[in-house]
Amino acid sequence: MSPADRISVEALEADPYPFYAHLRREAPVCFVPAVNLWMVTRWADVEFVAKMPDLFSAEVTASPVERTFGKPTILTTDGPVHKELRAGIDPKYKPKPVAAYIDGLVRPIAEEYLSSLLKRGGGDLMAEYFEPISTLALARSFGFHDIDMPTLRRWFYGLAQGAINFENDPTRQAIGDAVSAEISEKAEAIFARLEREPDDSALSHMLHDGMPDGQTRPRAFLLPTVKVTLLGGMQEPGHGAGSVLVGLLTHPDQMRDVREDLAALLPLAVDEGLRWVAPIGTQTRQARSDIELGGAVIPAGAMVGAFVSSASRDESRFSDPDSFNIHRREGPHAAFGFGQHFCSGRWFARDQVIAALRVLLENCREITLVPENPPVFRGWEFRAPTSLQVTLG
Ligand code: HEM
Repeated sequence: MSPADRISVEALEADPYPFYAHLRREAPVCFVPAVNLWMVTRWADVEFVAKMPDLFSAEVTASPVERTFGKPTILTTDGPVHKELRAGIDPKYKPKPVAAYIDGLVRPIAEEYLSSLLKRGGGDLMAEYFEPISTLALARSFGFHDIDMPTLRRWFYGLAQGAINFENDPTRQAIGDAVSAEISEKAEAIFARLEREPDDSALSHMLHDGMPDGQTRPRAFLLPTVKVTLLGGMQEPGHGAGSVLVGLLTHPDQMRDVREDLAALLPLAVDEGLRWVAPIGTQTRQARSDIELGGAVIPAGAMVGAFVSSASRDESRFSDPDSFNIHRREGPHAAFGFGQHFCSGRWFARDQVIAALRVLLENCREITLVPENPPVFRGWEFRAPTSLQVTLG
């Protein structure tokens, strides 16, 4: 049996990077039974897959995302329907509007959660700082103002269970389905109000932007995309921020450099953290016909994972790619994806992570990992530290 036949979901969850390095060297396009995907692991091939919708369709027959959230989703359509969905979601999250509102949105949430942590001298920065900021910032930007934090946290864990259920586990599916139905009910009520009284929330832009006067996009058309965006948007900036901070805390020399020049080096540290540990591992596609790539033939209809996580560690672009180094100047990472489906929230996410880390670093002179409880990374499709126990001073 080859390593690709032997690898298990558990091994990938624990640490997929050595396996990706092996595939990049030995079998850069390779079927991996454990996850039922053709893994594409080199930068050039990942970019090729994501930028060639005529060969690799975003519409996949056995999509766990559609099974849980319904159709069409922005992630799983191409062509005019995809364009229409982007026209609704993009306006709220373009770089200019984001720059105007991000600090006012993130800072009050960050300061509230940090003051409670400081009173206790520390705690778990994942559960008690980064995840709440990420979740509340996205929910508020969307227009879900009165949904409390425990409900939002339950939503994103439930949505994730459905979205990554490549192995068709019925328990995971049931959790995803229940949360999906709950979100539909809440969103329908908000849509009903926004149809009459538009505002600056993402939900309102989705209904109204680019539509002829007096018309709105149908709610049922938007709901699956609302869920996909909630999932990516609520969870991933918090995960990314945690990985960046682990990189800095385990490299005190780099942390010192960042503290000495927050304005210039914090954004670079954020980009390096997202390269080092990609919060989202793949862009998933389906081969439209038999396609030869990387020395293999992907059969028509097969599911293909373009592994942005692996591309960001491709040694043909990054020297010593497994190490965290904020001073590398080797070009962009792949964490936000390529092609027409590149992340709509990339500016919102990056600026939010910078703002959350800035509030933390400005207010804490000492951030120290708790030695008995070191951070442990988990996940291959969604990867982050499971906890980040620190003392703060
Ligand atoms: C660090 C945080 C984030 C990372 C690493 C990330 C990564 C990605 C990646 C890799 C894709 C491409 C998926 C594919 O093609 O299959 C994507 C798509 C997407 N992301 Fe993000 N994302 C992040 C945060 C956000 C946030 C905060 C939002 C909310 C505004 C968001 C909204 C979206 C949407 C709507 C799509 C689908 C775009 C499309 O299909 O056209 N993401 N993201």
